[in-house]
Amino acid sequence: MRETVLRGCGLQKRYGEAEIIKEIDIEIYRGDFTVVMGASGSGKSTLLHLLSGMDAVSGGEAQRVAVARAVMAEPEIVFADEPTGALNRANTKVVLELFARIHAEGQTILMVTHDREAARYGNRILYLEDGQICGELSLSHYQGKDSGREKKLERWLEEMGW
Ligand SMILES: Nc1ncnc2c1ncn2[C@@H]1O[C@H](COP(=O)(O)OP(=O)(O)O)[C@@H](O)[C@H]1O
Ligand SMILES: [Mg+2]
Repeated sequence: MRETVLRGCGLQKRYGEAEIIKEIDIEIYRGDFTVVMGASGSGKSTLLHLLSGMDAVSGGEAQRVAVARAVMAEPEIVFADEPTGALNRANTKVVLELFARIHAEGQTILMVTHDREAARYGNRILYLEDGQICGELSLSHYQGKDSGREKKLERWLEEMGW
């Protein structure tokens, strides 16, 4: 039985006339590495703010330090908004492998990203489009390269219109 660690019901956000998040119901389960995938402007950061109250992680080199600090605190949920968005390839790998390791140790993670390379580290992928969750994919836990697993993700992303 999955244990819910966070539940958002009827989440909504408007900026003036624009409805950015449209009545989203979402549950986050303990031990999952949940990834919210979606195009730029789909509402990922807004959704994460509604769920966490966090400020977006700062960019550049400070980003890797911020990730390390957030992870060391062993919070109930690690919230990450495009955690590799401002990192080069080497640091991106460091951060994602760190997430994979703490996830394997039981840490719950909620990450939003538009990077499919980052998304493949998750075991539950949600697809956000125009402020609504329009798809969900369950994957086995990431354990290094696995072409079957990655094909499954690729196919699903294609179905979602990525
Ligand atoms: N402070 C704001 N005022 C007005 N519109 C905003 C504001 N913040 C975000 N938006 C709009 O909300 C939409 C979703 O933004 P955001 O959640 O940042 O998307 P994502 O993180 O997926 O790129 C975008 O169209 C963006 O322009
Ligand atoms: Mg964003």
